[in-house]
Amino acid sequence: MEKYHIFLIGDDKVKKEIKNSLIIHPEAVIHENAFIDAFTIIGKGVTIEKDVYISSGAKIYGKTLIKEGTYIGENCIIGNPQRNQLKEVITSKKPITEFEGALVIINKNCIIRSGSIIYSEVIIGNNCQTGHDILIREKTKIGNNSLIGTNCIIEGNVSIGNDVSIQSGVYIPLFSKVGNNNFLGPNCALTNDKYMLRNKYDLKGPILEDKVSLGAKSVILPGITLKRGTIVGAGAVVITSTREFDIVVGNPAKFLKKVPKNWK
Ligand SMILES: CC(C)(COP(=O)(O)OP(=O)(O)OC[C@H]1O[C@@H](n2cnc3c(N)ncnc32)[C@H](O)[C@@H]1OP(=O)(O)O)[C@@H](O)C(=O)NCCC(=O)NCCS
Repeated sequence: MEKYHIFLIGDDKVKKEIKNSLIIHPEAVIHENAFIDAFTIIGKGVTIEKDVYISSGAKIYGKTLIKEGTYIGENCIIGNPQRNQLKEVITSKKPITEFEGALVIINKNCIIRSGSIIYSEVIIGNNCQTGHDILIREKTKIGNNSLIGTNCIIEGNVSIGNDVSIQSGVYIPLFSKVGNNNFLGPNCALTNDKYMLRNKYDLKGPILEDKVSLGAKSVILPGITLKRGTIVGAGAVVITSTREFDIVVGNPAKFLKKVPKNWK
C-alpha cells in the first residue's frame, strides 16, 4: 500500500484539533481556516476554502472545489466517479485519491448532510441544503437557495433552478429540468422512460417551468411539460402537459381549476 503523508496548511490550533487518522493528498489545497475532522480522505484535485467544516468520515475526490462556509456531514462522498470513469479507476489500480474527475463545485454556505453522495461534474449554488443520504449523479446543476430533502435521488443530466424545495424521497431521473421557485412534495416521482426498456424510446425527462408545485406522491410521465404556476394534486398521475396556472388532480390527472389569484 502506498503511503501518503499528511499535508495541511493550517495554524497550530487547527492542526492540534485534527487527529492523525486522515488521509489528505499532498496536492490538495486546504485553507488554514477550514476544519477537517478525523477519518476523512481528501484527494489530489480538491480545494477547500476557508470556514469549511468537513465532518468525520467524509471522502472528497476528483477535482472538487468546496467554497467558504460550507458544511459537509459525516460519511459524505463528494466527487464520486461517473459510470464511465469508474472502470478507469478500477483498471488503474491506483488509490481513489489519485482520481481526476470533472469539476464539482459546492458553492458558499451550503449544508450537505451526512451520508450524501455527489458525483463528479455537479455544481451546487450558494446557500443550498440537503437532507441525509441524498444522491446526485453527474452533469447536474442546482441553483442558489435550493433544498434537496432526505433520501432524494437525482439521476444526472438534470438542471434545478433557484429557490426550489424538494421534499424527502423525491426521484428525479436523467434529463429532467426543474425551474425556479418550485415545490416537489414528498415521494413524488418524475419519469423518463415511457416503455421501460420494452420498446425503443429516447429517454425524455419532464420539464417543470417556474413556480410549479407537485403534491405528495404525484407521478409525472416522460416528456411532460408543466407550465409556469401549475399545481399538481397529491397522488396525481400527470399524463399530459398543462397550461400556465392549471391545477390538475387524479389518475389520470384532469384539470380541476385555475390557481386562484390569492394563491400566487
Ligand atoms: C390539489 C389541491 C391543491 C386542491 O385544493 P383545493 O382547491 O382546496 O381542493 P378542494 O379540497 O376544494 O377539492 C376540490 C375537488 O378536487 C378534489 N381533489 C382535491 N385534491 C385532490 C387530489 N389530490 N386528488 C384527487 N382529487 C382531489 C376534491 O375531491 C374535490 O372534488 P369534488 O369537487 O368532486 O368534491 C389539494 O387538494 C392537494 O392535493 N394539495 C397537495 C397537498 C400536498 O401533497 N402537499 C405536499 C406537502 S405535505
